[in-house]
Amino acid sequence: MNDILEELQQRRAQARLGGGQKRIDSQHARGKLTARERLSLLLDPDSFEEFDMFVRHRSSDFGMDANRPAGDGVVTGWGTINGRKVFVFAQDFTVFGGSLSETHARKITKVQEMAMKHGAPIIGLQDSGGARIQEGVAALAGYTDVFSNNIKASGVVPQISVIMGPSAGGAVYSPALTDFIFMVRDSSYMFLTGPDVLKTVTNEVVTAEELGGAKTHTTKSSVADGAYDNDMEALAEIRRLFDFLPLSNRGPVPERPVFDTHERIDTAMDTLVPENPNVPYDMAELVTTIADEGDFFEIQRDFAKNILCGFIRLEGRTVGVVANQPMVLAGCLDSAASRKGGRFVRFCDAFDIPILTLVDVPGFLPGTAEEYNGVIKHGAKLLYAFGEATVPLVTVITRKAYGGAYCVMAPKNLGADVNYAWPTAQIAVMGAKGAVEILHRKELGEPDKIAAHTKDYEEKFLSPFRAAERGYIDEVIQPRSTRRRVCRAFSLLADKDADTPWKKHGNLPL
Ligand code: HXC
Repeated sequence: MNDILEELQQRRAQARLGGGQKRIDSQHARGKLTARERLSLLLDPDSFEEFDMFVRHRSSDFGMDANRPAGDGVVTGWGTINGRKVFVFAQDFTVFGGSLSETHARKITKVQEMAMKHGAPIIGLQDSGGARIQEGVAALAGYTDVFSNNIKASGVVPQISVIMGPSAGGAVYSPALTDFIFMVRDSSYMFLTGPDVLKTVTNEVVTAEELGGAKTHTTKSSVADGAYDNDMEALAEIRRLFDFLPLSNRGPVPERPVFDTHERIDTAMDTLVPENPNVPYDMAELVTTIADEGDFFEIQRDFAKNILCGFIRLEGRTVGVVANQPMVLAGCLDSAASRKGGRFVRFCDAFDIPILTLVDVPGFLPGTAEEYNGVIKHGAKLLYAFGEATVPLVTVITRKAYGGAYCVMAPKNLGADVNYAWPTAQIAVMGAKGAVEILHRKELGEPDKIAAHTKDYEEKFLSPFRAAERGYIDEVIQPRSTRRRVCRAFSLLADKDADTPWKKHGNLPL
């Protein structure tokens, strides 16, 4: 008996060494942690239960039968984050560069399937050279199984990818199919075609970092949702994000004790909106003042900064926030902001996370660049996402809500449940100048008349009261009491029951 136990210990110790001490040292020398070290930081202490530690690949080509390390380059299993269940896999770069074989893929699909069955999120820590070259089509088929499960799990359990090393070629499509991608600065990259191939095919000379590093994907391509300085920071932030998310589409949003009363008022909000309507202010201040303890987990902070998206808690429960940011492009919606907002709204709706929308939008960004970019279709994504959402929707208009952008930003007619406006709100087809120039074109040479028309227009339309008279706004509220009003609205809506006609699925303007 003792011999058998000893053999188990030996086999475990061997498996834990992955590709061996030399390769572990090389991983450390690059500032990267090993797969197991990463999991121990991601999960609660002693909570990790490993599966398939002794799985080995079955290929024999290229002398592979002589090199069959236990675990086959990926560590899989489940554990907890602050006591809540989560399934995980972490690719081990020390074993064949974390490349994906048939059996490596099977280990991943096993935890994906368990995550769906048991209703818990799955987090993948990616650090891989892609398909295991020695296995050919078997590796490609393995990837396809992983993609297929990513698609099945979409909207069933939250899926999070953390890129902590290379992610190249078709392998990028597994993270791309998940809900969130985070990257580690300077040690991770994602691209379909690497710099060497680019140079040969297109003569373009670019570094891996420029082509697919964290900065590129968080500021230019929007492939990634956030970037962190090192493995430790990334894993700590993933724990923070995880605490906001429900375990699955079958479970409620997490609730945690809160010491921040919903009665808290903030008089500074009464003067947040400057007197001059063309002067910007920071909408993030309103978000953090509304949030429990000012805690705001922002998604895609460095991309399309004219819209803010992220998670807060109200009375201990998660709420998604979508807010125009007047500090950037005056808060205009454009293609990038619409894609960012639309995707976030759909995530919240899929997982029953209520949405708070804060509106200060002068319209869609005009210009050929935007029209050629397909802003019509991209704008429709955000419109569609809000319109199909059945979660509780609360909207607060702080200042401008003009034209098509008013229609997009969760107004009542699109299905929002409770719509408030600050006294500074201006709800109209367009701003006064543009409106008067169209309505009174013949009098443009007469400044006094134009001034009188402008004043008249401003009094009639550039306030929330016309909309409130017609019930498009439920109430005009004091800025200082926004947190209280919003908390009470969401508590009213907690048992919202929305009816939608049967369909297989809609046709989101992709
Ligand atoms: C098998 C691989 C491998 C792979 C790396 N290794 N990638 N083994 N299959 N795909 C092995 C190396 O042979 C080496 O083994 C060890 O991992 C570490 O690799 P190094 O090259 O020494 O490390 P580094 O210099 O850091 O370079 C890492 C790398 C490079 C940039 C990832 O290895 C690389 O370019 N690999 C190939 C990437 C690639 O083209 N993959 C296919 C992508 S297409 P030893 O024994 O020497 O330590 C794809 C299709 C998916 O994935 C399609 C899905 C439908």
